[in-house]
Amino acid sequence: MSQIITQFFVHTSILVLILQSTVCLSLQNDTISVGVVIRDPETITSAKQNYILRFFSPPNTTNRYVGISFSLSEETVIWVANRDTPLTDSSGAITLSQDGNLVVLDGTNQTIWSTNLTTSQSPINPVVQILDTGNLVLREEDSGDTLWESFSHPTDVLMQGMVLSQNVKTGKQVLLTAWKNATDPAIGSFRGGIEVMNGIPQLVTRNEGRPHWRSGQWNGLIFFGLKIMFGSFLEGFLQVKNDSVGNFFYSTPPMNVFFTVTLNSSGTTTRKVWDGVAKRWNVLESYPENECDVYGKCGPFGICNVLQSTICSCLRGFEPANEEEWGRGNWTNGCRRKSRLGCGDDGFERVRYMKVPDFAQPFPSRVLDECRTRCMGNCSCIAYAYDGNIGCMFWSDTLIDTQDFGDVGVDLYVRLSASEFDSQKERKLYIIIGVVVGFVCVSIMMFIAWWLIVKRKGSKAQDSIILEAGQMFTTDSTAIILKNESNEINIGELPKFTFKMLAKATNQFRVTNLLGRGGFGPVYKGVLANGKEIAVKRLSTDSGQGMQEFMNEVIVISKLQHRNLVKLLGGCVEKEEKILIYEYMPNKSLEACLFGQFNNLHTHGIGRGILYLHRDSRLRIIHRDLKPSNVLLDQDWNPKISDFGMARIFGGNEEHGSTARVVGTYGYMAPEYGMEGRFSEKSDVYSFGVLILEIIKGKKNTHYFNDELSLGLIGCAWKMWNESNGLSFVEESIASRETEEEMVRCIQIGLLCVEESPNDRPLIQTVLSMLSGEIVKLPVPKQPVFAENGSNSAPNGSTQQYVFSNNELTLSVLDGR
Ligand SMILES: *[C@@H]1O[C@H](CO)[C@@H](O)[C@H](O)[C@H]1NC(C)=O
Ligand SMILES: *[C@@H]1O[C@H](CO)[C@@H](O)[C@H](O)[C@H]1NC(C)=O
Ligand SMILES: *[C@@H]1O[C@H](CO)[C@@H](O)[C@H](O)[C@H]1NC(C)=O
Ligand SMILES: *[C@@H]1O[C@H](CO)[C@@H](O)[C@H](O)[C@H]1NC(C)=O
Ligand SMILES: *[C@@H]1O[C@H](CO)[C@@H](O)[C@H](O)[C@H]1NC(C)=O
Ligand SMILES: *[C@@H]1O[C@H](CO)[C@@H](O)[C@H](O)[C@H]1NC(C)=O
Ligand SMILES: *[C@@H]1O[C@H](CO)[C@@H](O)[C@H](O)[C@H]1NC(C)=O
Ligand SMILES: *[C@@H]1O[C@H](CO)[C@@H](O)[C@H](O)[C@H]1NC(C)=O
Ligand SMILES: *[C@@H]1O[C@H](CO)[C@@H](O)[C@H](O)[C@H]1NC(C)=O
Repeated sequence: MSQIITQFFVHTSILVLILQSTVCLSLQNDTISVGVVIRDPETITSAKQNYILRFFSPPNTTNRYVGISFSLSEETVIWVANRDTPLTDSSGAITLSQDGNLVVLDGTNQTIWSTNLTTSQSPINPVVQILDTGNLVLREEDSGDTLWESFSHPTDVLMQGMVLSQNVKTGKQVLLTAWKNATDPAIGSFRGGIEVMNGIPQLVTRNEGRPHWRSGQWNGLIFFGLKIMFGSFLEGFLQVKNDSVGNFFYSTPPMNVFFTVTLNSSGTTTRKVWDGVAKRWNVLESYPENECDVYGKCGPFGICNVLQSTICSCLRGFEPANEEEWGRGNWTNGCRRKSRLGCGDDGFERVRYMKVPDFAQPFPSRVLDECRTRCMGNCSCIAYAYDGNIGCMFWSDTLIDTQDFGDVGVDLYVRLSASEFDSQKERKLYIIIGVVVGFVCVSIMMFIAWWLIVKRKGSKAQDSIILEAGQMFTTDSTAIILKNESNEINIGELPKFTFKMLAKATNQFRVTNLLGRGGFGPVYKGVLANGKEIAVKRLSTDSGQGMQEFMNEVIVISKLQHRNLVKLLGGCVEKEEKILIYEYMPNKSLEACLFGQFNNLHTHGIGRGILYLHRDSRLRIIHRDLKPSNVLLDQDWNPKISDFGMARIFGGNEEHGSTARVVGTYGYMAPEYGMEGRFSEKSDVYSFGVLILEIIKGKKNTHYFNDELSLGLIGCAWKMWNESNGLSFVEESIASRETEEEMVRCIQIGLLCVEESPNDRPLIQTVLSMLSGEIVKLPVPKQPVFAENGSNSAPNGSTQQYVFSNNELTLSVLDGR
């Protein structure tokens, strides 16, 4: 078992080990100094043998190119020198020329590619080195100055430590440029990089200059057009920063795993991570992800929604500009306004959960209403939106590349003439009448159907649905080994339940029994034959990471026993079905109670649960997804932590880990985890801090899903505490129960937990001592990240922060163990 756990959890560490164990094997040079000539097929390899500079031929061609490839998978070419000028035979050579340039020569000693440094800066003692980051550097040996580096001249792959940029003043970009096709590395038709529009950065890929895909606006924390960034599987893989001279930078933070972002020849941007165990690249995500992601799919004033059978529709108040083409599925002409705007007496239609259109004009503001007033007062403003970090966004000419995300996103307010709202009211009335009539009809039909079923059931004394299920799951499972691609776990130690039993207990998993959704699937309430109530969590077949989370949960929770952790009663694995059974929590989750009658502090219990995870259990566990919906309440309102699908077990004296796949929930994730993938006990402490503040505030930390909030919970707490009237932050019903001082103290403790630097945050045992009053004098919290004028958490900084030096990368590699 422990072997499996190691394999399962420590795979990033294995990578690190591989990296380090190969250090001493390096026999080959990683440098080219003056006079050295590398001839095809000679190569140079980086010190730890991660990357190779070599001559290669892409598939289906005999042309030779000089490029850098990843040594563990040589077909992965991350950079090409002479992409537009191939060698036609294998007589090529790489060397340093007289003037200090790195050059590629053909068989006749003609220079076919050069680093093109101007002669005025001709170095005295140049040397070329391939680094373990994949960067090829031309240096002045004596001074150590970098004269040229491949990372500043990317081809189609973005590596860690590489930076894409745009200078707002000159428009100059450092971009990815795709290959023509798989056999020809020449510059193809697709390019992609960061583009700054009215001061707001976006990632944009273009095909022959026309936009092909855009990430949506960057607000300092997330891209509005990447749905995943709003959700509970937030990918914290990037940083966008700017400097004082108008350069914007996009980069990926250093992590102890290899990963790349590639723009392929058909315009798809893919982020991949190297799986050191399976020895292959795993795709994390690709954009455009679906038809709606393609830029301007539905034309101006159209909205795209992948879940609709016809993906394009017109915004309310608009109709297809060309009915005939629209009907044929040619949506690019878009929609036109039905009735002209009157300017003064227009209204705004709220369209929820959007990827907001391109060409937004920002205006810093703290309040939604101000956006409305400003837009209303300017006749050329046709829509607005609000975000806590950016402030107002206005649109004037057109609304293009708008997408309906369905459940997350930014709300767009579209200007419509007053007449649209009148007709809408009438329509609403008709709709209401229609719904009522429809409901009555359906109810009657359902009653008849139910009556028929009952009658049939009675006569046959058999439940047809159970029979069906029974046929599918007749044999009691004997296979208790769970398997996925690379792991196996034995859940034999768990008490086994049969599918039949669970189906019966949950009324065939009826919707009415649904309690909610956990990490990997729906949770149902069930009642066993003996009357015992249970909660049944069923792995949904359509959840991508589900299997992994399921196994993770089994591994973690079957080893834990604590009164503040939810208890696993058993499991069921039959055919496609994978189900876990827990004790039933009658009082739902903390989330359900934050708004309701719940008015008791449960911070102690939750804190003890976390302490057990971090310190007291045999394993050391970082939960990584602490939030109110994962804190359940038993019949005595005791809090119990649940959902261990994302938890990570730390071995030995491991202190922190890092990952390219950040999982967790926006609003509860510590900044270093969300943005750089680094997690530790302190990132759980951060989430706990948010929980404390929420419990006190009696409100959810819905920074992104609620347009009324401009400061966010943490900002609000900070402001209140700072103005030393912590009490106005506290929900009245709670305040009446507890002493005022204690409340203010709790806010202070919460603020200590959410400090920006993990080192400043207290350990969970310290937090508990603070909560219980053992520690009387509390430190003064620093200003939290999200509080400062709401702008963003990225510190204004210089380029140094984004260009990761080799040392920094190595350091983070060492950290990871
Ligand atoms: C490595 O470089 C050193 C000097 O930099 C040189 O003397 C040696 O021959 C090189 N070895 C190979 C295998 O190229
Ligand atoms: C190379 O050619 C073969 C045969 O024509 C083809 O099946 C294969 O897809 C080609 N490979 C690439 C990368 O284009
Ligand atoms: C290219 O240069 C090398 C060394 O400078 C020399 O030995 C070789 O003969 C030259 N080849 C041709 C074809 O000129
Ligand atoms: C170097 O300069 C030459 C001549 O100006 C040009 O043809 C070539 O594309 C340049 N090479 C690179 C790598 O910029
Ligand atoms: C790749 O592009 C080159 C040049 O544009 C073309 O000659 C070749 O046929 C293309 N190969 C494939 C497989 O499409
Ligand atoms: C870029 O950063 C500077 C601080 O270095 C800041 O003052 C400025 O507002 C930023 N520029 C933009 C366009 O966001
Ligand atoms: C580019 O990537 C996408 C997504 O992985 C894939 O569907 C497409 O075939 C790729 N294009 C080429 C030319 O490899
Ligand atoms: C869509 O309609 C436009 C204008 O009517 C036309 O130019 C274009 O060719 C059409 N596209 C397709 C794919 O039919
Ligand atoms: C009205 O909005 C347009 C476009 O957003 C802008 O260019 C113009 O300056 C605004 N006018 C006023 C008076 O604010």
